[in-house]
Amino acid sequence: MNSNTVRVGLIGLGGVCSAVHYPGFSRIPDVEIVGLCDPDADLLAKRQSEWGIDTGYTDARRFFQEVKPDAVAIAVPNIHHRKLVLRAIETGCHVLCEKPLGMTVPETVEMYDAARAADVRHMTAFTYRFVPGITYIKSLVDSGALGDIRHARFQRLQDWGETSIGWRQYKEMAGTGELGDMGIHRLDFAEDLLGPIRSVCSAMKRLVPRDHTKDGVACEPQDVEDWVAWISEFESGTTGVFEMGKLTKGRGPDGGHDVCEINGSEASVVYQLHTPQAILIAPQGEPYTKRTVPDEFLKRPGSPRDPAEGDPVATFRYDQAWEFVSAIREGRDCMPSFYHGMRSQVVADSIVEAATTRRWVNVPQWTKSKK
Ligand SMILES: NC(=O)c1ccc[n+]([C@@H]2O[C@H](COP(=O)([O-])OP(=O)(O)OC[C@H]3O[C@@H](n4cnc5c(N)ncnc54)[C@H](O)[C@@H]3O)[C@@H](O)[C@H]2O)c1
Repeated sequence: MNSNTVRVGLIGLGGVCSAVHYPGFSRIPDVEIVGLCDPDADLLAKRQSEWGIDTGYTDARRFFQEVKPDAVAIAVPNIHHRKLVLRAIETGCHVLCEKPLGMTVPETVEMYDAARAADVRHMTAFTYRFVPGITYIKSLVDSGALGDIRHARFQRLQDWGETSIGWRQYKEMAGTGELGDMGIHRLDFAEDLLGPIRSVCSAMKRLVPRDHTKDGVACEPQDVEDWVAWISEFESGTTGVFEMGKLTKGRGPDGGHDVCEINGSEASVVYQLHTPQAILIAPQGEPYTKRTVPDEFLKRPGSPRDPAEGDPVATFRYDQAWEFVSAIREGRDCMPSFYHGMRSQVVADSIVEAATTRRWVNVPQWTKSKK
């Protein structure tokens, strides 16, 4: 171990840890994955054997006390984010936490304030910020190449089937359904691209009960939305139209639709997740043509990832771990941080309020001054 070594613990070893966090951290030089934690003993044993990591705990308190990691990545159902994040911060640990950062705005404020008070690095896993196409589009927006941004649209349409989707389908575990699952990523990158959202109107629908599993076993029906849509007015005057759905026939596992289109006074651009290393671009009066993302945007500076290696739809996600570790080593804020987790929760709560009251809602702007 040298002085540059960062000792990382992984908490919650399910889908996203295996697809994103483990491959991300395990390829960074001088990062040691020092321990795993998950209450599911079978899964813990499986991951320890797959990843060759001797140290494993089913109890988070013992994990922190005995492993004493420098940093953790927390990837557990949303209801558990707050207590694990606060425990990590108490022990002086840097924290990467999955999205949505918390169940409510006050939870996210508490986590953000605690992290700042303890002077630890804090990061929200808004993974789509690391898509090469999004990074390139941000540079085009920021440089003024698209002119004034007039309107934009954001769509995430998938088909997860009609049966149970586990903890994600219960308010008490997840907070919200499609809004907190897919919508919150788009809220975050929309504000990153276009600035703060001023007001929203919205609709949310629970389309099916999901009251049995794939194997036909009965379960409690879901109480969250499968579909959500909203219109946003940004402070800049830009308008954004958003739609997310988990039950969009034709958009099954391989046909998932994830698009962001930005229409400026000089040009329009489109990001599509299935081609993350290219965008579509159309100057005024011309149709869209494909443009390959320039090399400088294919990965974060210094990232050990080879952009030519593996499936580009999966591998851009590994740069999230690189950003977290780089911020720890450089003693700077992570981007995106808990601030962005808190801020997107403020907008998400306004979307719920607008759907419930069936009216336009002004997004509270107080979080801007807390940055
Ligand atoms: N950033 C992204 O693109 C992205 C993608 C998928 C999921 N997520 C988020 O990641 C989190 C996990 O999602 P997932 O799909 O991996 O879920 P999952 O159900 O596949 O895995 C969650 C794991 O957490 C474990 N767990 C439950 N309670 C725990 C506790 N108290 N301590 C430690 N481990 C605990 C479970 O046993 C399970 O193994 C959620 O917050 C979700 O919103 C983010």
